[in-house]
Amino acid sequence: MSGWKLGIIGGSGLYALDGLEDRRETEVETPWGAPSDRLVSGRIGGVELVFLPRHGRGHRLSPGEVPYRANIAALKMAGVTDILSISACGSLQEAYAPGHTVAVDQFIDRTVSRASSFFGAGLVAHVSMAEPVCARLSALAAGAMEAAGGTVHRGGTYLAMEGPQFSSRAESHLYRQWGCDVIGMTAMPEAKLAREAELPYATLAMVTDYDCWRADTEAVSVTHVLEIMAQNTALARRAILLLAARLSGTPRTPSPQGIESCLDSALITAPQ
Ligand code: ADE
Repeated sequence: MSGWKLGIIGGSGLYALDGLEDRRETEVETPWGAPSDRLVSGRIGGVELVFLPRHGRGHRLSPGEVPYRANIAALKMAGVTDILSISACGSLQEAYAPGHTVAVDQFIDRTVSRASSFFGAGLVAHVSMAEPVCARLSALAAGAMEAAGGTVHRGGTYLAMEGPQFSSRAESHLYRQWGCDVIGMTAMPEAKLAREAELPYATLAMVTDYDCWRADTEAVSVTHVLEIMAQNTALARRAILLLAARLSGTPRTPSPQGIESCLDSALITAPQ
């Protein structure tokens, strides 16, 4: 075994992966309630994988209804060492075309009504989010996506919006002025919670549309998003297989960013 146990949070199309050995489904309950769905676990080569469909099977949960804390807690309880998040996003830059993937390295969190911390209620911690993504995992995932035939942009700022409605045109222009590259509804508070759980986290954001800022392009619609998502899912599956094969040959060492021990310097409440 290589020491990697990779949690994958993504669309419902991913967990039916061909080649997943020793496949198991587990119902989990956490102190923060039930996650979006049963965990699907298995092995590819020497790497353990644990899948969690973010919106539940059949896409039952709206972005604001996803139980983000329970999802991260369930993966932590399952013993995953790292989390790869795969999500659909809109593009805010000409060069990031539908079908492309962005290995995100920064976020702006504009979500407004989601539980976004495991702390509070007498226990205060302030983890650093200056570098919110595990650079090692992000590079490995980007490389696998390229090997699968995808066009990958390494680096990009993801604007996390509350939704479920898409942005107004004025908002879309504003986010472009802020220097954002892609927009989506799910990577926050996921990334914050993964950090609080001391789990290295990376996001592959797969572009489905140009949101609504682009002249002469029809504004984003669910029809558009679903069409491109079907192609993106096939690509994401190939990338996961390749990533697992690569991790299998790379014994895991602690994250160079010290993510697994980030709470050592983050807790502010005095011990009782
Ligand atoms: N997910 C896919 N496309 C999106 C967009 N344009 N805005 C927000 N979330 C999205």
